[in-house]
Amino acid sequence: MIIRPRRLRQNNILRKMVRETKVSADSLILPFFVREGNNIEEEIPSLCGQTRYSPDTIAKGVEKALKSGVSSFMLFGIPSHKDENGTGAYDENGVVQKAAKQLKKGFGGDIYIITDVCLCEYTSHGHCGAINGASVDNDATLPLLAKTALSHAAAGADMVAPSDMMDGRIAAIRGALDEQGFCDTPVMSYAAKYSSAFYGPFREAAGSAPQFGDRKSYQMDCHNGKEAIKEVLLDISEGADIVMVKPALSYLDIISEVSKTANIPVAAYSVSGEYAMIKAAAKQNLIDEYNAMCETAVSIFRAGADILITYYAAELSGAIKKGDIG
Ligand code: PBG
Repeated sequence: MIIRPRRLRQNNILRKMVRETKVSADSLILPFFVREGNNIEEEIPSLCGQTRYSPDTIAKGVEKALKSGVSSFMLFGIPSHKDENGTGAYDENGVVQKAAKQLKKGFGGDIYIITDVCLCEYTSHGHCGAINGASVDNDATLPLLAKTALSHAAAGADMVAPSDMMDGRIAAIRGALDEQGFCDTPVMSYAAKYSSAFYGPFREAAGSAPQFGDRKSYQMDCHNGKEAIKEVLLDISEGADIVMVKPALSYLDIISEVSKTANIPVAAYSVSGEYAMIKAAAKQNLIDEYNAMCETAVSIFRAGADILITYYAAELSGAIKKGDIG
């Protein structure tokens, strides 16, 4: 007798019945870039298919995404002015604050707004924190991040997501939110964020590349796995509600380990370089974009992610509706 695993693959309905990995549009988050100004709706060259909006036009992007079945969004800001301490990040009339206000006014509880909390888009040097000489001053950055998170929550953000990788920032942000009455605003921590070449198209899109040095003194080294668990456990102990692994595709082992260790939901960020790679290969007819997108997303959930942040969120939602993944 031959043992035949193939038996369960012979029928489409059966194949779906026995799927181990379930994918739902409810678990997808779509990032948006919002730029200071008016009437902006421009294609992002490094992220083909993605659009940069201004606070007065972003509702259009949200409307379109809602129609496709995605209702959670992550906002990244591009200010018109940058300075040493990234003051635009915590300006109550900053670009993210304005966009969050607009969107909450227009869509209320129909959408869920997550804001990226970091200084790199707002600092003239492009680093994620305040600078002291040639290095990033971890502790001096904490109050700035707390102020940023607070101003986002005050503008209507449903959740804040610090991506800076400073030590102690979850406790600083949680403390500030609680003190000001935002006890119910969750924090999604970019807990295991690696120093990665895959952020290239994002830095182009957000104009946030460091002007000197790199981010290796605060973002993680790709050689390390156990350290990710340390970062995750620390962030949980400081009050994180969701922990994130980023990037996703080269870090599926980390997602898997973290999902076994963390007693809270695990998010994975399939970053700009992962998206751009599929786009570029598809453009040359080397791979089928739709199938590569589907396979990639499923692999991230299969590894253990509960939530996926991806520039393909709207298209994936369509694939789920069609039953190609799900
Ligand atoms: C800000 C931030 C970055 C990304 C998300 N938040 C860039 C970076 O750390 O350089 C990258 C996201 C992407 O590549 O899609 N710190």
